[in-house]
Amino acid sequence: LGKTIHHYPTIDSTQTKANALAYEGAPHGTIVVADKQEAGRGRMNRQWFSDNNQGIWLSIILRPSVLPFQAPQFTLLVGTILAEVLTKETDVAVKIKWPNDLFIGNYKVAGILTEMQAEQDTVHHLVVGIGINVNQTRTRFDTSIQTKATSLREATGTIYSRIILIQQILRSFEAEYENFIKQGFNPIKTKWEQRAYKLNEWVTYYTNNQKAEGKIKGIQEDGALLVERIDKQITALYSAEIDW
Ligand code: BTN
Repeated sequence: LGKTIHHYPTIDSTQTKANALAYEGAPHGTIVVADKQEAGRGRMNRQWFSDNNQGIWLSIILRPSVLPFQAPQFTLLVGTILAEVLTKETDVAVKIKWPNDLFIGNYKVAGILTEMQAEQDTVHHLVVGIGINVNQTRTRFDTSIQTKATSLREATGTIYSRIILIQQILRSFEAEYENFIKQGFNPIKTKWEQRAYKLNEWVTYYTNNQKAEGKIKGIQEDGALLVERIDKQITALYSAEIDW
């Protein structure tokens, strides 16, 4: 992993670049990293503000032999790694908000975007994108996210080396990825739950525009979020909007 690293001072999106490189045959573990992105993308086609060299904007090409339904597990794997590495490096608790956000307190500090290219039951490749707000001050954030976002620097008062953080993340990812391929998802599930945002707390969520309340209990082997309803029944959520 990380034997080939493509670094760009400015790019549209490392995610788009990594997908193109993967189609051209770039090997498993190829990394694309940029100082600034002009068209950073988030989940649900949202914009990801990354037009500054204060964060980590990085995509990893993976070629695992897994089935398409396992793609969400990679988001959870990377979320677990980021929570562990960032907690260790900053000494503040970094929590995972299902499915793909990293939170410090009630503020989002990082996001993960996993994109899969598959034909029927064969995964061609995955691109896992990681965006981390590192050294921005709050005033540097776009006004639309100022009340919702934070950076490692905002949360701790410390300026971090992006290179060192990237090295720690890739080192940890390499080891945990191997474990995942060998041992499957169960060990990660346990670690994920230890770092879950609002575990055992009540939240409001929406499935097909239906509003419901439930207590966050953890995740299932396939990555679904487990929620306990008032009648004590456990429901598995695959796609839901959760009011955190
Ligand atoms: C989200 O929170 O919705 C996911 C954000 C993912 C952002 C990263 S930054 C590197 C990579 N390139 C992109 O355009 N997006 C991802």
